[in-house]
Amino acid sequence: MPPVGTAAAVPAASTGAVATTVAVEQVGLVFPSRSGEPTVALADVSCHFAPGAVTAIIGPSGCGKSTLLQIIRGFLAPTHGRLRFVAGPGDAPHKAPHSTPHMTTVWQAFNLFPWRTILDNVAFGLEVAGVGRAEREARARAALAKVDLAGFERKYPRQLSGGMRQRVGLARALVMEPELLLLDEPFGALDAQTRLVLQEQLAALVETSGTTAILVTHSIEEAVLLADTILVMTARPGRIAAEIAVDLPRPRSMATTRDPRFAALFDHIYGLLRQEVIRAMATEGGGA
Ligand SMILES: Nc1ncnc2c1ncn2[C@@H]1O[C@H](COP(=O)(O)OP(=O)(O)OP(=O)(O)O)[C@@H](O)[C@H]1O
Ligand SMILES: [Mg+2]
Repeated sequence: MPPVGTAAAVPAASTGAVATTVAVEQVGLVFPSRSGEPTVALADVSCHFAPGAVTAIIGPSGCGKSTLLQIIRGFLAPTHGRLRFVAGPGDAPHKAPHSTPHMTTVWQAFNLFPWRTILDNVAFGLEVAGVGRAEREARARAALAKVDLAGFERKYPRQLSGGMRQRVGLARALVMEPELLLLDEPFGALDAQTRLVLQEQLAALVETSGTTAILVTHSIEEAVLLADTILVMTARPGRIAAEIAVDLPRPRSMATTRDPRFAALFDHIYGLLRQEVIRAMATEGGGA
């Protein structure tokens, strides 16, 4: 099915930072099964992630959202179709135009190393990349300050709340200055109030970073608050049912949720999603 609706022109990256376009072309993925039917997780997904923009992906549980992120990340190979990465205008001049971008991921689980301090957790990727101690610690401190965790550098993950640990996860991704930031339900495990604060913080961070970001979420509010474009997926096998431009002004905050345009977008997306969730319940619940 072709995408419905049109996406507005995406604002250019505000900092001139490196940004990458991701083109997903007729991608499908079938998980084989030793017993019974294989699972068609994705069927013929085509979409485009604009450089420096935030694209949210929303769809019923099990429709293949995480599978799509794993394909983009390079952890899963599609059964058919292909991906193309196109280097953005701010890209390093030595870079081949279609090489795989530098990506980092924030998953729902915090995945911090319990035996490392917060600073060393954030600095881990830089350490692996061979960055010297003084520089990696300075960059990790700056990343922690961006998520309001200055002063917690010497603590261990067990000494922090869930919301703080997820902010560490965000700092750990941002410190790498990724060209492509992948977020899979980053706030799914958090309480509602913590989630609101982190959504506002993430909105501010993505507005200044200029990174291309892909956010998988179950929350329509989160998608509208954070994204430039929202892709609504169908029930499994997942396809793109609609592509919706979010033309709300930035900076956005919780006050944005009281804008009548916010309500209109919410209702539109809820209407699309509701049909798909009912369809997913019918097939998954019916044992098909
Ligand atoms: N490794 C795997 N082997 C077999 N089937 C899998 C595997 N991973 C996922 N699936 C199946 O593929 C489908 C899509 O899964 P996926 O995790 O991508 O969905 P999702 O949209 O991220 O769901 P949720 O919103 O619940 O996180 C599901 O039916 C799932 O059971
Ligand atoms: Mg998932």
